[in-house]
Amino acid sequence: MRNQPLDPATLAAQALGWTDPTTGAVILPIQPSTTYIREPDNQYRRGRNYARADNPGYDQPQALLTALEGGAASLVFASGMAAATAVFRSLPAGAHVVAPRVMYHSLRRWIAAYAGDGHIVADFVDMSSLDAIAAAVAPGRTRLVWIETPANPLWSITDIAGAAEIAHRAGALLAIDSTIASPVLTRPIELGADIVMHSATKYLNGHSDVIAGSLTTARDDEFWQRLVAARSSSGAILGSLEAYLLLRGMRTLYLRVERACRTAQRFAEAMAENSHVAAVLYPGLPGHPNHDVAARQMQGGFGGMLSIRVKGGEAAAIATAARVELWKRATSLGGVESLVEHRASIEGAGSPVPPDLLRLSVGCEDADDLIADMQAALAG
Ligand SMILES: Cc1ncc(COP(=O)(O)O)c(C=O)c1O
Repeated sequence: MRNQPLDPATLAAQALGWTDPTTGAVILPIQPSTTYIREPDNQYRRGRNYARADNPGYDQPQALLTALEGGAASLVFASGMAAATAVFRSLPAGAHVVAPRVMYHSLRRWIAAYAGDGHIVADFVDMSSLDAIAAAVAPGRTRLVWIETPANPLWSITDIAGAAEIAHRAGALLAIDSTIASPVLTRPIELGADIVMHSATKYLNGHSDVIAGSLTTARDDEFWQRLVAARSSSGAILGSLEAYLLLRGMRTLYLRVERACRTAQRFAEAMAENSHVAAVLYPGLPGHPNHDVAARQMQGGFGGMLSIRVKGGEAAAIATAARVELWKRATSLGGVESLVEHRASIEGAGSPVPPDLLRLSVGCEDADDLIADMQAALAG
């Protein structure tokens, strides 16, 4: 018999190998019931009473995610935003939070508004600098350091282990939006993170047909129990069908991410040679300012996300996006189809994104086809 632990890719492909004990089915059934029978003696001995608190369809994706992240427990949510905001809402009133200047724009805006309403105090810092993080945390006052790496849509990198050390020294938790790396490339809990969040809408599901989010914890502690209660009481729950689709997507996570990484690396190198491109933002390029940190904490590739800055400014960038035939002009990321987006158009005022930037989500198509389509679009 084998005596080594199974590789995460094996766990994902078989979704932990669970089968239905009643029928022997290798795929567990979707359970739509909202409510559960109370025993005649007034107990809920089977552990469930109402599907806003829990759903048997969450068990397998949560257990798989916990295994892939190397955590203690996971929760799936109705969206990535529901998962992320549950963490902030579960902090004590007035808590000090350190968050990134460069991050998923809707969450940055939500944190600023939540702080503006007086619930928390938030400082936004350059998370690619450990010195900047250290200068921003206030020992005994800071409760949470939130990072995102690689960070949307400039793909700057935060040193996860370094940030965890700074947060812990100050008595704060380190939470990370690890959507872009996915557990395939980075396992933040092994690097010291306390909570890992995903927009499961992206790589975990991978097929642009489910909005979902997740949290994974390093420890099942008091803060985690607050998050468990927060999901149930806020009602930000995933539907049964969506939980099923999420798990189905997760089974091919490793194949999709490995393919996207290989193609993105080749694509980035081709764009770096293109005379219409002013800059390529991709942590896999040796010229990226945090390439060495990325190489240390990302295993097997640098992700499927990159951005290019188009010579000629905003108008040239928008015109390039208008000319693609294979790439799809759409927001979101992490699906099997490649997407291009003029990011400043969606982020609006106050965004740190330059107006000549196109954000690219590399999918599973042939690399040469994707390169040829973008090169033709850039050439005009
Ligand atoms: C990095 C990142 N975090 C969080 C989110 C929010 O996730 P959702 O759209 O599932 O709420 C997104 C969505 O684009 C994202 O890209």
